[in-house]
Amino acid sequence: MSTVPLVEFAFRLADVGDAGAIRAILNQAYTDSWTKRGLLVRAATQNENETRLQIADRSVYVLLHKGQIAGTVRVQRKELRNEVVAYVTHLARRQGSAELNIGQRLMTEAEGIARSFGASLVTLDTAQEIDGLIAFYRALGYESTGRFVHTSTAFWSLWFEKKV
Ligand SMILES: CC(C)(COP(=O)(O)OP(=O)(O)OC[C@H]1O[C@@H](n2cnc3c(N)ncnc32)[C@H](O)[C@@H]1OP(=O)(O)O)[C@@H](O)C(=O)NCCC(=O)NCCS
Repeated sequence: MSTVPLVEFAFRLADVGDAGAIRAILNQAYTDSWTKRGLLVRAATQNENETRLQIADRSVYVLLHKGQIAGTVRVQRKELRNEVVAYVTHLARRQGSAELNIGQRLMTEAEGIARSFGASLVTLDTAQEIDGLIAFYRALGYESTGRFVHTSTAFWSLWFEKKV
């Protein structure tokens, strides 16, 4: 009997059937790295209904590894200083997939999505307290452009940008 080889990696727009898997990845990833440091962030607790609403606006993407969802990212089209930009949020990889460079792959794909809708800039924010994330974005060519305090949860965040 012949078997069809599974594609190693694939990237696509999320559909409503992915909501459960995306919610589980987001909740786990943001609980482990944010909530456990005392930083409250919505993605750590968002439910399936909120996840479905995000999927419905066609801004949520998934990276599959051997047919399974290994990570997710949200890329929204925004206008900033009269320019079309891509705002990246909800970046997360499945637990136990550290060797696969899922984060880097997701960001490369997100930059491709940004270019496809005419953005010349990708923008995102991340918590200053999480040093690994700052190193992660810098390694991918992002530059910090400022910082702000999340008023609801009172932690410092950094804005990052990259021309794409
Ligand atoms: C952010 C996240 C998606 C990164 O995914 P990942 O698969 O671990 O990242 P990658 O392996 O692709 O990292 C790419 C590069 O970034 C750098 N990097 C990543 N994590 C780093 C860390 N903790 N410290 C220093 N550099 C780091 C490295 O240069 C790495 O390249 P290398 O593998 O050659 O060393 C993952 O850690 C995650 O799900 N975190 C929880 C949710 C979250 O905080 N999301 C971001 C919100 S702003």
